[in-house]
Amino acid sequence: MTLDWGAGEYERTARELEPAAEHVVALARIRPGERVLDLACGTGNAAIEAARAGARVSGLDAAPRLIEVARTRAAAASLAIDFVVGDAQDLPFHDGAFDCVLSVFGVIFVPDPPRAVAEIVRVLAPGGRALISAWRPEGPINAMMRVLGRAVVDAGGPSRPQFAWHDAEIVGGLAAAHGATVETDEGRLVIAAASPEAYFADGEQYHPMSVAVRPLIERHRAPETVREEAIAVLRAGNEDPDGFRVTSPYRVMRIARAG
Ligand SMILES: C[S@@+](CC[C@H](N)C(=O)[O-])C[C@H]1O[C@@H](n2cnc3c(N)ncnc32)[C@H](O)[C@@H]1O
Repeated sequence: MTLDWGAGEYERTARELEPAAEHVVALARIRPGERVLDLACGTGNAAIEAARAGARVSGLDAAPRLIEVARTRAAAASLAIDFVVGDAQDLPFHDGAFDCVLSVFGVIFVPDPPRAVAEIVRVLAPGGRALISAWRPEGPINAMMRVLGRAVVDAGGPSRPQFAWHDAEIVGGLAAAHGATVETDEGRLVIAAASPEAYFADGEQYHPMSVAVRPLIERHRAPETVREEAIAVLRAGNEDPDGFRVTSPYRVMRIARAG
């Protein structure tokens, strides 16, 4: 099952992720004039931040609709960013084209991570760096996704083995094969809503991943039980007794190409 990130309304999630894009761009310490690629850019959060920092920015994503949204946002902010539709595993850029590659919860979704890492290092100039944010497994949102993933498999859908993008040894092993090294930083994203139930219902309606798995969950022998279990996981991680607030930890992998 190939996920269409243009389905639903990913824009809503992208707004929740804006603080993470700001964090990753700040960690990248972008200098004016640097060439920056926002890889799997979605609606362009990191690309826009990098352009505001004075970089010459390209953004690439597999979802044509999201690239259109990104172009509209950049134009509204009077930022010249080159957005293209493409595959993170086969980048349409020449070797050494960028000083910095950013990917905010983006490249972590590709089917072939070793190939994506090879491409990232290939398009980095000598001395360049890539910053990739990846969810750590322990957050409540991840726990909810695991409940949904199990229900999809129970209903006869595909199982999606998760690549451990948050694991410095594993990503470091991939990078080392191309002469690059890996260091890490930590981050936390807070997400709030009116209630756990409201957050879950919103996701079911708008998030591309939930939109994709909803028909499979409906096929499950007990779809209501699945929803209750997913909402129970959200309640367990809820930090706000009057509403809904959860904190999801993430790790930023910094891949450095030798100079
Ligand atoms: C969770 S979204 C993150 C988007 C954006 N970076 C942000 O911060 O909002 C994941 C993105 O990865 C993109 N994506 C998934 N597989 C891809 C691939 N093979 N090549 C390019 N983009 C891909 C999706 O289209 C989607 O926009």
